[in-house]
Amino acid sequence: MNTIAASSFFEPQVIADPFDYYRAWLPKSPVVQLSETMFLVLSYDLCAQATGDVETFSNNFQGALSGAMAEDGDVAAILAEGWPQVDTLLTADPPTHTRFRKLVNLAFSMKRVAAIEEDMRGVVIELIEKMAAAHESGAEVDFVRDFGIPLPVAMIASQIGMTGDDLDKVKRWSDAFVDRLGRMIPKERELECAREVVEFQHFVKAKIDERRANRTDDLLSDLVYAEVDGERPLEDAEILSIMQQLMVAGNETTTSALAGGLLQLIENPDQMAKAVAAADTGNERAIINLVEEVLRTESPTAGMWRIVLKDAELGGVNIPKGAMVQLRYAAANRDPAKYPDPDRFDIERANARSHLAFGKGIHMCVGNMLSRKEMAVAYTELLKRLTDFRVADGHVPSWPPNMLLRGLTTLPISFRRRA
Ligand code: HEM
Repeated sequence: MNTIAASSFFEPQVIADPFDYYRAWLPKSPVVQLSETMFLVLSYDLCAQATGDVETFSNNFQGALSGAMAEDGDVAAILAEGWPQVDTLLTADPPTHTRFRKLVNLAFSMKRVAAIEEDMRGVVIELIEKMAAAHESGAEVDFVRDFGIPLPVAMIASQIGMTGDDLDKVKRWSDAFVDRLGRMIPKERELECAREVVEFQHFVKAKIDERRANRTDDLLSDLVYAEVDGERPLEDAEILSIMQQLMVAGNETTTSALAGGLLQLIENPDQMAKAVAAADTGNERAIINLVEEVLRTESPTAGMWRIVLKDAELGGVNIPKGAMVQLRYAAANRDPAKYPDPDRFDIERANARSHLAFGKGIHMCVGNMLSRKEMAVAYTELLKRLTDFRVADGHVPSWPPNMLLRGLTTLPISFRRRA
């Protein structure tokens, strides 16, 4: 196990299945130097510490990333047909970040999440019924394709006034954003992704214009009309940047959590039995803890970049100004110093909620309430209605390589309706 080379981290097979790497490196070096200017932070405490020091560890990494992997001229030409990328939330530092985050927090309130809960339950039940009908007719059911993807897509799409046929577009666009972010794609895909970004921008710009003419009751309208402390409203490019981030950050991550969590339950029948009992008795606290344990163990946002603004020291390792640091939340969430027996999936784990799956500090996930709610409603309704979940015969779950995100792309399953 200890023979895994530090520098092997970004090799596709290690990125796809990084747990041996974490187990090998976390105990001996919570900060791993991958090259002169690239570092990984693996421990819980140091990841948490870095998120709290925004003057040293900056989120303004977009420029550095594109500098390291220079934008191809053909890609740039396609992107020029849309709006410029603006640093608003994930890739902005204070004071810019503070201002945008205030506006988005207002649009993304608990009140809005609560307001859509009943619609959400309706979507969940409809998806379950469709899966059950497909299964009964002998068709293959893929939990990722048939449930994990459509649920978050439907919830975010409803917030920009999209329905029906449009939903496929949302998935296409969010895949393109994620692929661009993960950067492990060939040139052809880069070009395709750039075209998707531009198509998305023109689509949402039309929706923005509709709302300027006629206010509606959704998140996009909230953003179009947002004004805080008498500041100017958001510009088109800013709204587009925010919407893009909501899609990147919100879709694939929630899909991965939903599917990864179901797989954990299937692989751990004792935990499945406890989860079913919680769903049957309406034990919301137990379901909430299940959701937290899924987030801890799955950590769909496995890592996030920081760029180092001044010479720094972290966990005894010197990190020079200008270096790229990846906070590896997935490793931190399995740090044995924080979580005894960290690889065990235990839905009653007392400190499950302390995980860093949503990050920490000023950039902590703005959509955390929404995705937590989606997961809780999904598991409750799935376990109440279906039983005897199994991974389809012959299928071996696998995770495609992506530098930041980790999730199943397919999970064929079988099950039965409950009597
Ligand atoms: C299980 C699902 C999700 C996970 C695991 C996740 C994870 C994360 C993490 C780790 C961060 C912090 C990144 C950093 O440290 O720099 C983050 C930020 C963010 N997330 Fe999520 N997220 C999820 C769902 C969502 C949803 C549903 C939305 C919105 C629809 C969303 C929107 C965002 C945005 C906009 C940011 C940037 C916030 C900022 O920089 O202030 N996420 N997310």
